[in-house]
Amino acid sequence: MNVYDSERMAEILAPLGYAPGDDPEDADMVILNTCHIREKASDKVYSELGRLRKTKDRRAEEGSPMVIAVAGCVAQAEGEEMLRRAPYVDIVLGPQTYHRLPEMVARAHRAGAEAPGQRGVLDTEFPADSKFDHLPERQQANAVSAFLSIQEGCDKFCTFCVVPYTRGAEFSRPVAQVLEEARQLAAGGVRELTLLGQNVNAYHGVDEADREIGLGVLVERLAALDGVARIRYTTSHPRDVDDALIAAHENVGALMPFLHLPVQSGSDRILEAMNRGHDVAQYLDIVARLRAARPDLALSCDFIVGFPGESDADFEATLDLVRAVGFTMAYSFKYSSRPGTPAAGMPRQVPENIKDERLARLQALLEEQQQAFNADTVGRTFDVLFERAGRHPGQLVGRSPYNQAVHVATTEYQVGDIAKVAIDSCKPHSLEGHIVGSGSAHPREESEERLSA
Ligand code: 5AD
Ligand code: SF4
Repeated sequence: MNVYDSERMAEILAPLGYAPGDDPEDADMVILNTCHIREKASDKVYSELGRLRKTKDRRAEEGSPMVIAVAGCVAQAEGEEMLRRAPYVDIVLGPQTYHRLPEMVARAHRAGAEAPGQRGVLDTEFPADSKFDHLPERQQANAVSAFLSIQEGCDKFCTFCVVPYTRGAEFSRPVAQVLEEARQLAAGGVRELTLLGQNVNAYHGVDEADREIGLGVLVERLAALDGVARIRYTTSHPRDVDDALIAAHENVGALMPFLHLPVQSGSDRILEAMNRGHDVAQYLDIVARLRAARPDLALSCDFIVGFPGESDADFEATLDLVRAVGFTMAYSFKYSSRPGTPAAGMPRQVPENIKDERLARLQALLEEQQQAFNADTVGRTFDVLFERAGRHPGQLVGRSPYNQAVHVATTEYQVGDIAKVAIDSCKPHSLEGHIVGSGSAHPREESEERLSA
């Protein structure tokens, strides 16, 4: 989501003459787009700001001032406090106000010229009008794959999570607006869309006529657009997997057979304490229904170890769930206490050394499953969407339906093409294969292989 937001910030600043640069040392403006989800991400902001302050001081001495802006969820959560703690920051803005960046930049310049040292510009409102109504058209020069934000915010209030406080209430973009942005991206050469939302499958149409449209139907409509060959979505919540979405996995060939469906824990007791709104049996049932609809579906997941009160038995239950489902990829984290969330005040916080041990054991198991899945693809054939030139001449790098990087030697195909590739070998982070034919836009019809992840 932050990558998407950063792209949109660059687009809204382009008419003012700003373009993305590589080096903060000689930038006219630096925007830190921040994440508040875990303490580690949050802490990085101030160390990064400390470094930028030195650059800013040097630049002021040289007579070429630099603007520092802090965007994203740390800015949203800290607001005024950030300007107090880091008074050299010129702009603090939240994730729902970045459409007003041009105004903020103008105000920061005025303040800098008229009253140097004056407190910076702060805009962390949750405005009534959507930022999406004010952003310019998408410019995705040369991208084959693009993010498209369709939903934001969250009303689920998992007890460990800051998102409902920093991103605000659950909100979906109108169907017509999403389709229009998808058309702009496809017209610019994008072939793969990754639909984004904190709770992407809570998506629902906004306009009167579209109220019944959920993610499943939206995916169907997007798949019908010219040029759109592949669709992915992230991050979904088990509670919002409905029949229409399962049907889309069965019927829409462009919907890739790879789904990120976080479960967080394999213990009913912990799921309850997390306020996830489902138990292990319900999760397994959803997975079984998805796999019945799409037998080649591969799953990825998020896990938290060391949630307050997590016992050895609770943790073992998480390992059991991992063994039962089989994940091709996963992100796992030590529980991080976040200010203002209910879990932060819960008794029986788990000691750091136990969290470390559990994380290591969980990650070893997940790594084993991922490597087994990758090794299993050797000898199989599937469609690869080429994204960029490889390091060697005549080599292209693309993505498998499972989002694995695939290296192929070819002079026949170009970036943006889809080819049928037979996988010859597997390395820890990529696959290698050779072309066996041209790809279909909708791989479902031709590859019906069952997987045993
Ligand atoms: N501590 C650790 N991990 C967290 N996540 C969210 N909040 C926390 C927290 N307080 C993880 C969850 C979520 C992912 C985006 O980040 O696993 O799915
Ligand atoms: Fe956070 Fe996701 Fe739970 Fe919402 S559903 S509170 S974003 S973990």
